[in-house]
Amino acid sequence: MKKITVIGAGNVGATCANVIAHKDLAREVVLLDIKEGVAEGKALDIWQTSSINNYNTKVIGVTNDYLRTKGSGVIVITSGIPRKPGMSRDDLIKTNASIVKDVTEKAIKYSPDAIIIVVSNPLDVMTYAAFQAANKDSRKVFGMAGTLDTGRYRAFLSTALNVSPKDIHGLLMGGHGDTMVPLPRYTAVNGIPITELLAKDEIDKIVERTKSGGGELVNLMGTSAWYAPGAAAAQLVEAIVDDQKRIFPVCACLHGEYNLKEIYLGVPVKIGAEGIEEIIEIDLNKGEMKMLQESAASVKKVMKVLDDMKLFK
Ligand code: LAC
Repeated sequence: MKKITVIGAGNVGATCANVIAHKDLAREVVLLDIKEGVAEGKALDIWQTSSINNYNTKVIGVTNDYLRTKGSGVIVITSGIPRKPGMSRDDLIKTNASIVKDVTEKAIKYSPDAIIIVVSNPLDVMTYAAFQAANKDSRKVFGMAGTLDTGRYRAFLSTALNVSPKDIHGLLMGGHGDTMVPLPRYTAVNGIPITELLAKDEIDKIVERTKSGGGELVNLMGTSAWYAPGAAAAQLVEAIVDDQKRIFPVCACLHGEYNLKEIYLGVPVKIGAEGIEEIIEIDLNKGEMKMLQESAASVKKVMKVLDDMKLFK
């Protein structure tokens, strides 16, 4: 790919740009921020690892210069303020909604064909905001949450089972918040269901820890995480750039799947060069479906807060 843009040079944006560059996913990564010098500095610092770590992707930092992002194939939006201890992701909506709207409109002007990946919080609703601001096919605007949340889930399972994280496959659906729905029934170690390997109470503990995985890190560090969120966003970029047809949970616009519509919510999809190439509908039992509907209801509540802000006519 010729160019990838990452908007927001905070910890998540800079980490994402760094991982994209190390994977050599484009000829150029443009990192953009509103704070004078920050993106330039971080981009230069990252670019100086190219000669050490042997990659070619050029990393360029700019202050608010959207013209420099022109012709991007993928735009990753990480702008907005992060959580502080005691805050939920939803508390960020008032500040972050206007930011996400503004940066999406500016970026899409120069890259109308770009696929947009949203990382800003509250994730599901910020993805919905970017979708409205971009005014394009919903398969080309989606949110990164499931790859992060399943990443955490799989890491916890790897530790509990003392097996390689590479061998753990798991699925998780719903919103990027306390109501997310990890699915132990669809989680396995190289095909062996985890329900065969761990006692129910151990699985329950891992599920609960996954749900509050972001909060655990906010409490430890006083701000939200960046290594795993940045890497998880870069993993989606890679699936697009290499047309990998990988199956990941992402925050997608639903049009009746899982009996849900007019909502952005985490579901398994196929990601390739066209963005979301398929939304996969798996069988959920009664309990799982109930949890998914509850998660959708809590996302809808925050969507209403966004609608009431009347940012979009
Ligand atoms: C987290 C933030 C980025 O889950 O939402 O760490």
